[in-house]
Amino acid sequence: MNTYLRILSYARPFSKFAPIYILYAFLSIVFGLLNFTLLKPLFDVIFEQVAPESLEKYRTLPELGLTVDYFTSLFYHQFLNVQDLYGKMGTLVFVCIIIVISVFLSNLFTYLSGVVLAKVRAVVIKGMRMDIFEKVSQLHIGYFSNERKGDLMSKMTNDVQEVENSIVQSLRVVFREPATIILYFAVLFFMSVKLTLFTILIIPISGAIIGGITKRLKRRAVQSQESLGRIVNILEETLGGMRVVKAFNAENFIRGKFDSETEYYSQVNVNMARKNELASPISQFLGVSVVAGILVYGGSLVLSGESSLGASDFITYIIIFTQVLNPAKEISRAASSIQRGIASAERIFQVIDTHAKISSPTTPKPLNAFNTSIDFKNVSFAYEDQNVLQNITFSLEKGKTIALVGPSGGGKSTLADLVPRFYDPTQGQILLDGTDLKEFSTSDLRSLMGIVTQESILFNDTVFNNIAFGIEGATESQVIEAAKIANAHDFISQLEKGYLTNIGDRGSKLSGGQRQRLSIARAVLKNPPILILDEATSALDSESELLVQEALTKLMNNRTTLVIAHRLSTIQHADEILVIEKGKIVQRGTHSQLMASEGLYQKLSSIQAV
Ligand SMILES: Nc1ncnc2c1ncn2[C@@H]1O[C@H](COP(=O)(O)OP(=O)(O)OP(=O)(O)O)[C@@H](O)[C@H]1O
Ligand SMILES: [Mg+2]
Repeated sequence: MNTYLRILSYARPFSKFAPIYILYAFLSIVFGLLNFTLLKPLFDVIFEQVAPESLEKYRTLPELGLTVDYFTSLFYHQFLNVQDLYGKMGTLVFVCIIIVISVFLSNLFTYLSGVVLAKVRAVVIKGMRMDIFEKVSQLHIGYFSNERKGDLMSKMTNDVQEVENSIVQSLRVVFREPATIILYFAVLFFMSVKLTLFTILIIPISGAIIGGITKRLKRRAVQSQESLGRIVNILEETLGGMRVVKAFNAENFIRGKFDSETEYYSQVNVNMARKNELASPISQFLGVSVVAGILVYGGSLVLSGESSLGASDFITYIIIFTQVLNPAKEISRAASSIQRGIASAERIFQVIDTHAKISSPTTPKPLNAFNTSIDFKNVSFAYEDQNVLQNITFSLEKGKTIALVGPSGGGKSTLADLVPRFYDPTQGQILLDGTDLKEFSTSDLRSLMGIVTQESILFNDTVFNNIAFGIEGATESQVIEAAKIANAHDFISQLEKGYLTNIGDRGSKLSGGQRQRLSIARAVLKNPPILILDEATSALDSESELLVQEALTKLMNNRTTLVIAHRLSTIQHADEILVIEKGKIVQRGTHSQLMASEGLYQKLSSIQAV
């Protein structure tokens, strides 16, 4: 129930929708009801069920009042006038015209209320989509290594869809049908208390049965959506890794995986459908059984002449009662689909409620410029239990370059990730100009940094937009200038549409080196005081590496740089080199100092010289 209300809360402000919806729904129910209540006078007149004398009291116009009596009297008054003027046939036409008009109005208002609900639905779904997207874009990087990407994608697409289909679809049922039932029952009570008390018995019985059916649906729905998440995951991985799948002849393996997951998914769904589909036939069956009961019981009342219930009352009564069956059926169907929707909504809220491990403080310290230094103080870090970095202490002064080298898996990329606060240290502190990074807002902090990651991260968009990514209002000449510095302008100009060429998913239409030069151009354009370069030149051939190196040297001028490189030749001019092995700084110094002393650096250097 809480989940349901939380979904509805996305439709705020309610005052925008509620009054108008209630008005439309009420009118449509009343006009709908009018149709059927008109049947009684029609039967009365046509079948001459009522003695003409008893109608005489309606000859005078009734006193104004908001009672059922007033309206009945008013109706009979007009009714008699028409009868006097046009006879029986005329009356028949009169009643039919009113029925047609009220059916028209009833449907018109049903339509209008439907439009209001469609707006509510659109607002709710957009709100949920934006919320989950916003949350996902704010969550700490670590969250994404622990969650399956496919499952997240599935939550953002399929689960939102499921909420849209089931819960929001059920809004009509939840708000309107109970009102319909209540109003109809009010009329039924008015017609015959005895019969209505008898029929009301059906409600708790069918309620209990439907409740029993839908109870276990939710768990199945969760299983179903989770399975769908895994399916999307397999799809995502297969499509992303098609080259490897083919190269390793792994089609069968991946097909088998996909097959067993889809098989599971379909079984869960068939299971769910077995219960789901039961709800509405059961309520229909119960409803009609009750009608049969009423026929017997009410019929006996009419036949024996014991009660005041006349034949026309009875027929009208039955007709109105059958009209209650539809909303009742709708409610029971909605009850089961709501369970599915709630299961999906809970999966969505689970993401929305995830606590972002890395967030800005509520009152961040202002940060406009980088002035003196970045200091690592006894920093240790662990992704899970095992320490990846231990006791790292160094100081990166403004305008200087520090290089990280060392064997693969040593922790260099991890160390670089701590500077823009992709992760927080598990122990120790990182200070920027003497203030802990945690005291700044992450966006202020990151706006000081340009990052070129180990893998070039590009988007399915044009070259221009990839370079200008995140920089609002970048001009063409700025982008070209950045591309020139990154030594990317030449190859971009040769592309079919130049800067407007689409580079495909993750830049798949470009070579590795070209991709890397684009990400460098992106960092160049951002023009940040602090640069973090992770293997920035590793995918370039020696010629373009030289050119990029030159460009980077220009770029690094007057800038503070943390650079990770495997090729020692590229970092000879660094102010300090930290040799990192197994998460520790095992050696430190300038290139010449390190070359002069025996150790890992010398070893790495001699391997590369070969
Ligand atoms: N998201 C993660 N979750 C858990 N462990 C991780 C994660 N990322 C990296 N590791 C582990 O942390 C260690 C350091 O990895 P890191 O990427 O920092 O190494 P590196 O020095 O950059 O290596 P390379 O030179 O190959 O890029 C490795 O043992 C790796 O298995
Ligand atoms: Mg690395």
